[in-house]
Amino acid sequence: MAEASIDSLSPRQLHAKAWAGEYELIDRQLSPLGLRAMKELHLAPASTVIDVGCGTGQTILQLADRVGDEGLIYGVDIAEELLSVANQRTSHLKCVQLINADAQALELPSNSADAIFSRFGVMAFDDPILAFSNFHRLLKPNGRIAFCCWRAFCDNELDRFPLLAAGFRSPSDETPFSFSDAAYVRNVLASAGFKNIEIASYDEAVTSGDVDAMTRVLLSVGPLGKIARENPAVKSAAEPKLREGLRSLGNGTSVALVASVWIVSAVA
Ligand SMILES: C[S@@+](CC[C@H](N)C(=O)[O-])C[C@H]1O[C@@H](n2cnc3c(N)ncnc32)[C@H](O)[C@@H]1O
Repeated sequence: MAEASIDSLSPRQLHAKAWAGEYELIDRQLSPLGLRAMKELHLAPASTVIDVGCGTGQTILQLADRVGDEGLIYGVDIAEELLSVANQRTSHLKCVQLINADAQALELPSNSADAIFSRFGVMAFDDPILAFSNFHRLLKPNGRIAFCCWRAFCDNELDRFPLLAAGFRSPSDETPFSFSDAAYVRNVLASAGFKNIEIASYDEAVTSGDVDAMTRVLLSVGPLGKIARENPAVKSAAEPKLREGLRSLGNGTSVALVASVWIVSAVA
């Protein structure tokens, strides 16, 4: 089948295509941030967990390590293209079920999950209070939710450095930063019925590897990635500037940028 031209793909499809093309390098970068949030779930073997916006599935594998064969993990994502990568990576695990759905209206039974997890998959809901009310419904009493989400663009070297290096000043889309205000996040969770809400600031220098690897990832995802994947001419112009900026930071074998996130946890 002929590949669709980028003109015929929606912004969401372009995002999914770019992510699926670089998922191993992206996983290397995001893994420490997700694991820091996952720790807050205190998962016991045989737990049932929902991974919201599971994407290509690295976090499903990490959750499976914790809940074991007797556990159950629902990986939920709205993007079919990403779930098909997750399926390839997890099909050997009988404890995994993938669901292609909008997580805010996920139709699993009430009081059925011990925990809900997300690595950067909760910031794009049309109605966040509705979504988190649904998560509260899905959790057993005292079940836990934990996720990581981005703090402000201006605090995030991982996003700011590449954008400035390429000659841009601010993101073209604020959606990834929609949970950057901790008071807002607290209000969403409290309005949805959650208690014991904890929102901790967490910074970590993260990397996908050398300058080549970081360049590929930063031109695919994140604020510069969004501009580049939607404007191929911009991508060609940005690439040498980004490479030069990254080269000035690194030791050649590994270039890291600081990611600034909230680690959010709460109890149903
Ligand atoms: C930034 S990506 C993170 C993917 C994955 N959690 C990871 O860290 O590799 C956000 C993910 O959330 C998914 N997503 C966004 N809105 C969603 C929704 N309403 N329901 C389900 N998934 C959603 C996207 O398709 C995407 O896979």
